[in-house]
Amino acid sequence: MGNFYNPVRVKIGTLNVIKDVLDTIKPQYSKIILMHRGGDFSESVAGRNLYKSLEGFEVKQIGVNISNPDVEDLFHYYKQIEKFDYQCIVGIGGGSVLDLSKSLAALKNMKIDSTTNLRSVIKQKLYNENQNIVPWIGIPTTSGTGSEVTCWATIWDRENGVKMSVDSEHLYAHSAIIDPTLTVSLPKGLTASTALDALCHATEAYWSRSSNEISRIYSLEAIKRIVNNFEKVVDQPGDIQLRKEIALGSLYAGLAFSNTRTTACHSISYPLTLELGVVHGIATSITLAKVMEINFKSIIENDKLLQAFGVSSVSKVQGLIEHFHQLSGSSSKLRDYKANEEIIEKVASNAFTKGRMDNNPVALTQEDVKQILLSIY
Ligand SMILES: [Fe+2]
Repeated sequence: MGNFYNPVRVKIGTLNVIKDVLDTIKPQYSKIILMHRGGDFSESVAGRNLYKSLEGFEVKQIGVNISNPDVEDLFHYYKQIEKFDYQCIVGIGGGSVLDLSKSLAALKNMKIDSTTNLRSVIKQKLYNENQNIVPWIGIPTTSGTGSEVTCWATIWDRENGVKMSVDSEHLYAHSAIIDPTLTVSLPKGLTASTALDALCHATEAYWSRSSNEISRIYSLEAIKRIVNNFEKVVDQPGDIQLRKEIALGSLYAGLAFSNTRTTACHSISYPLTLELGVVHGIATSITLAKVMEINFKSIIENDKLLQAFGVSSVSKVQGLIEHFHQLSGSSSKLRDYKANEEIIEKVASNAFTKGRMDNNPVALTQEDVKQILLSIY
């Protein structure tokens, strides 16, 4: 039961549909921030198409050359655009670009003068009262984050060893444009790790305490598409039809967890990434089958979940994920990321992110988390 809500206008097609999106907002907005991945973006086909579509607008471009943005990175970009009176942000890129676009949309005109100040704005969610939040448009170039259809962004605080969120109902994108051709040049490892992230979003949404009948349908659809096409897309990265299947899988996973948020796997992944540098999609999926085993009896229609994975038991999910890790060139064992007993203790004690761990259908203790981590050591 429950209510499903997501206000993002989703356009599936080519990047060119941005013209239609901008036409609907052009009367009000003329100054745009274009956030992209930097590097050779301006020379790419997508870059050139996008600039053409933005003719007639005053555009300030920001190339983002970092990933997993920290509060200091966010402050750096905030200062770069602070004096430009932007009315809309277009973000084209992976999760980091989209999360920064969303966060900067929230911070417009907030007169932030230091990272310390920004840290407290985020912690106290002061952007919630900001009357100057601007609309943003999300154009993902990876298939995994789901940020284009969720209302929160991950901002790390490495100085304090924690993950923070910029999170508000006001931060859904005005529109999301899903163009699978933007993902064809993604390298194998990134294709695999982002797809694994989406697989976790869908699976965790399915068993989340906040799941509802509609989110569960999106979850199952997402899992089927990702599982059925994972090996093929890693093998044939230039195949647009396969890219579309994974892009839709990621979108459906995003829609599912936009309503439910994630659970124990994501909660455990944050300290794994902070302490051991494990890539997000690997860090979330590395505990997926173990957490599924613990949750299994509490999962509504758990048979449908296994069917979506195309397996007959949870132990086979473990085998499937290990196979996917192998295809991505990653290990499924923590020892290969230089974990040790001390780090495992630290990860277990920092694995309890509010709104994530308490969203797991089964309450886990620190000792439970430690045992999960030891079982994949
Ligand atoms: Fe994620």
